[in-house]
Amino acid sequence: MPDGSGGAPPRAVIFLGPPGAGKGTQAKAVAGRFGLAHISTGDMFRDHMSRNTPLGEQAKKFVQSGGLVPDEVVLGMVGDRISQPDCKNGFVLDGFPRTKPQAEALAETLRNRPWGKPLVIYFAVDSDQLLRRLTGRRTCKVGGEIYNVYDCPPKVPGRCDNDGGELFQRPDDREEVIRERLSQYEAQTRPLVDYYQGAGSLAEVNAMGPQAEVTGRVLEVMARPR
Ligand code: AP5
Repeated sequence: MPDGSGGAPPRAVIFLGPPGAGKGTQAKAVAGRFGLAHISTGDMFRDHMSRNTPLGEQAKKFVQSGGLVPDEVVLGMVGDRISQPDCKNGFVLDGFPRTKPQAEALAETLRNRPWGKPLVIYFAVDSDQLLRRLTGRRTCKVGGEIYNVYDCPPKVPGRCDNDGGELFQRPDDREEVIRERLSQYEAQTRPLVDYYQGAGSLAEVNAMGPQAEVTGRVLEVMARPR
């Protein structure tokens, strides 16, 4: 299995799937093995909100209600991020793009840069699993490690196995907000499955079952020759 960029050409990988599909969990597990940066737009918004930056102020009402942050705000933020030196070998985009205009803008950006046509990995999960995964999610305040009180609990309740950091529940993982996030996904993001299928970029991964098995499937797709 690859253990870094190893001189491989730069690449862009998109993790596409509904809220709670396991995109963030898998991005943390695999991006570094290919020397790719992990870019989570949700994490970036949460970071800006916690620091009360102007961008965080703009994003807050959308993130808190389960709506999507306007495209122009997202596009500016992602454009800046992928210009950073750690994206030289490429990146895994987790939670972006989420609308057709975002996908079109990304295609335009990639056309003129070294990363080439993206590989889009679609995380297929039974919809009845999502509520369980989202309501059970807990995240480490220190390192961002992701747990689930039902399916992958920490050894000590409320504490991260890695650094002992306090685990917290995301405010948008309340049921009423989850419903809105799922409905936004169906209306705005699911159409990207057909969009990328049509572009010949899509690989579907079965995201059901134990995390380690899903990781194996994702690695297998990412290691295929381009
Ligand atoms: P964001 O943070 O991107 O949320 P999301 O897409 O809703 O995705 P999640 O983080 O909820 O799920 P995930 O698939 O990463 O699952 P995870 O690995 O954590 O976005 C938040 C908000 O920011 C949006 O609502 C929007 O407002 C805004 N935003 C972000 N990007 C935007 C954009 N591009 N445009 C506009 N607005 C944007 O796993 C979930 C749980 O399942 C965990 O508990 C985990 O332990 C568990 N789990 C994972 N895998 C398994 C498994 N195999 N079996 C059992 N449990 C598992």
